[in-house]
Amino acid sequence: VEAPGPFDWLADAAADRAGAGLRRTLDPRPPDDHLLDLASNDYLGLARDPRVVAAAVDATRTWGAGSTGSRLVTGTTELHLRLEATLASVARSPAALTFSSGYLANLGALVALSGRGSLVVSDAGNHASLVDACRLSRARVVVTPHGDPVAVATALADRDEERALVVTDSVFSVDGEAAPLAELAAVCAQHGAGLLVDEAHALGVVGPGGAGLVAALGLDTRADIVRTATLSKALGSQGGAVLATVAVVEHLVSSARPFVFDTALAPAAAGAALAALDVLRATPELPERTRSLAACLHDAAAAAGLTASPPGAAVVGVRIGDPTDAVAAAAAARAAGVRVGCFRPPSVPDGISRLRLTARADLTAADFDRASVALEAAAQRLGRAARPR
Ligand SMILES: Cc1ncc(COP(=O)(O)O)c(C=O)c1O
Repeated sequence: VEAPGPFDWLADAAADRAGAGLRRTLDPRPPDDHLLDLASNDYLGLARDPRVVAAAVDATRTWGAGSTGSRLVTGTTELHLRLEATLASVARSPAALTFSSGYLANLGALVALSGRGSLVVSDAGNHASLVDACRLSRARVVVTPHGDPVAVATALADRDEERALVVTDSVFSVDGEAAPLAELAAVCAQHGAGLLVDEAHALGVVGPGGAGLVAALGLDTRADIVRTATLSKALGSQGGAVLATVAVVEHLVSSARPFVFDTALAPAAAGAALAALDVLRATPELPERTRSLAACLHDAAAAAGLTASPPGAAVVGVRIGDPTDAVAAAAAARAAGVRVGCFRPPSVPDGISRLRLTARADLTAADFDRASVALEAAAQRLGRAARPR
């Protein structure tokens, strides 16, 4: 009898996923598939902006295809420093430090600012990168109910640890709603805790000049608030950043493992992000345009009979419930010419599958007509019964 192979269990795992409607596949997209894209995170429509693309090409010509090393060895080009200075300026932060992704910025910041013997208080709706960072932190982790500053205050008051860090998305990735940041900032100040805010969905879309939600609330001068962001959503590029005081940035340069042990952001990504920030500064109406288009998408989904969440930025979550229904509704939208996101467990912390619609600053009135027809087709496929569970 042959001994079982070490990965034989994968077949059972795949069958379980298929049975639960949770099988995921990689569907290649051609350069132009003529679908209206309401699934990407390209909130300002800059990923293909000729100025941004040209800057990526120029940076590649000047600096090479790769950045050739960790930031601490050969990976800090003048381009990286210019990008960080511009990011800090746009986000109204004293300093900025880039990472190769938003995921790594979260791992780097959270782990380096917590550690063994400290407490981390994390919102139940936080992005997977923050969840993983909590696990890596070796801190005691308390997960509080979604958007609940009272529970955060209780966790902080009940602690024995001297150091504590509260962590939250500023705009949540699934339903697109804003966190109660003003309340969290007050609770943190009262209990001597730091606040780490992930502005992935807010940078470029919310706040003065797209500075993010922390700045929108006038909290950008608070040294006890550290922000993370991604360059891969509104800025149309790739990479991540931490926005913080010079002291925090210096600490991360020496101790954040995803910074120290990772090859620096590629020149193309740095150049593209820098150009996107320049476009944002030159076109300050872009964030407001994206937000109002998101509100229109919400209204179109509601008019089609779907259960849509009011957006805090560019993202509109549409509750479906069953993962198989969500896939069917997304397929119906696609058949009507519109690509929408389809979020199923584990991408939805509450287990409720959703369609995810994202606004882009460059959507036209004709795009909207198309989106409305597709949302109606999706609702039709569900018998107009988006069944929340
Ligand atoms: C809230 C949030 N934080 C972090 C990330 C990770 O950013 P990146 O894609 O740049 O790794 C994402 C999404 O990708 C996100 O939605």
